[in-house]
Amino acid sequence: MYYIGIDLGTSAVKLLLMDETGGIANIVSRAYPVSYPRPGWSEQNPADWWAAVCGGIPELLAGFDAAQVKGIGAGGQMHGLVVLDKDDAVIRPCILWNDGRTQKQVDYLNEVIGKDTLSRYTANIAFAGFTAPKLLWLRDNEPENFARIEKIMLPKDYINYKLTGVHGTDYSDASGMLLLDVQHKCWSREMLDLCGVRETQLPKLFESWQPIGTLTADIAKALGLPADVVVCAGAGDNAAAAVGCGAVGGGKCNISLGTSGTVFITSDTFGVDKQNALHSFAHADGGYHLMGCILSAASCNKWWSEEILHTDDYAAEQALIPTDKLGANDVYFLPYLMGERSPHNDPAARGAFVGLRMDTPRAALTQAVLEGVAFAIRDCVEIAKAQGVEITASTLCGGGAKSPLWRKILANVLGIPLTLPQTEQGPGYGGAMLAAVACGAYPDVRSCAEALVRAKQTTEPDAALVAKYNARYAVWRKLYPALKTSFAEMEALV
Ligand code: XUL
Repeated sequence: MYYIGIDLGTSAVKLLLMDETGGIANIVSRAYPVSYPRPGWSEQNPADWWAAVCGGIPELLAGFDAAQVKGIGAGGQMHGLVVLDKDDAVIRPCILWNDGRTQKQVDYLNEVIGKDTLSRYTANIAFAGFTAPKLLWLRDNEPENFARIEKIMLPKDYINYKLTGVHGTDYSDASGMLLLDVQHKCWSREMLDLCGVRETQLPKLFESWQPIGTLTADIAKALGLPADVVVCAGAGDNAAAAVGCGAVGGGKCNISLGTSGTVFITSDTFGVDKQNALHSFAHADGGYHLMGCILSAASCNKWWSEEILHTDDYAAEQALIPTDKLGANDVYFLPYLMGERSPHNDPAARGAFVGLRMDTPRAALTQAVLEGVAFAIRDCVEIAKAQGVEITASTLCGGGAKSPLWRKILANVLGIPLTLPQTEQGPGYGGAMLAAVACGAYPDVRSCAEALVRAKQTTEPDAALVAKYNARYAVWRKLYPALKTSFAEMEALV
């Protein structure tokens, strides 16, 4: 038996074929573009996602018995606004999770409606990337498109719709829309009224492991799959990654170093960060989680290496960093290349190198990029700590986790051991696991994780290096407050 996991990411879709023992039989990746129509905006065409999935699945199955595929589960980039018209055609490109165009709508929600009220309705406040401010932006700026909306969905829900014909979503992903009453797991009537949308325009809600339907006959034929393949609701990519890394049940932590960087803290019970700096969302295992999200993580390293240094040999670049320079770098980097979500909630924030001198080598800047991202992740961990949440260890996933140097830097900046799971495939593996639960192979997500997820290796922090990084973090964390006003002034001149 096989299960297909879909990791619908920002730079590519990764498809994974998992066998019944949890082994990964095959992985296929298909890239698609992101467009940045204006500074701080980011969009993608849902047709590109779908083409990548349709092209990728037959490639994934080549050489395998497709008749053995029982289920499909997706973990998708969160918060993106996908709007369909009465014929289920996409009205406009999807506005992505890291798009910062909605400052005016966020201010309205947080300041006029009020953070306390929003938090009471949804357990969260407004952030620029969330879906509800994007709906308000559409209403204000593209009223003709807003008037045509028949269905509102999230990226992976669009793929599930194309596969099954069913408009569904799951609680973990729906949590990031700012339309869901997260605690009670139902749409918030107040938020729907505020955004001028009807419940019939929203997808049906499911738990992540619940089947939403089976493949349509046409799609099954086109993909070479049996028509009774079950498609489960799936999850937001971070919840799916947490499942794939075994962060299910209460009291676990998973950190992702992908395009975004996230700190995902599981809980069996509902809870809200009193400062609302962390998101309070449902988890794909039926419980809840708190999450901090930095908008640019591995994407900072990609930008630095590929756009600036013109190399994709990340390992060679990192090999230039002398070991004795760890914890002793004089250059600091702010990773706010797309503004920042957690903890600053500031779309105007910018990236910056600080501390350059005439003798600063290239390697110091590469190191600063890795460290700046690690410090920003620590910002999220510090907020959790201030809420009384103890994080003593974490699993780690995402493209950035492949770098042993970055793992070492992060473990020492956070002062905790970081464990890579055996498969190293966060959202895709989690998606396949959810599909296995949907097909009845396991009674629930927790037992599936207990049976399948194994640790591969752990990076332990070193007390002397932790102390050095503590001193550097104390300097770094004062840089954003010092530059905040300048960032706003720069933004006003754009
Ligand atoms: C989480 C978030 C990102 C995206 C990346 O809130 O916005 O992690 O899900 O795909």
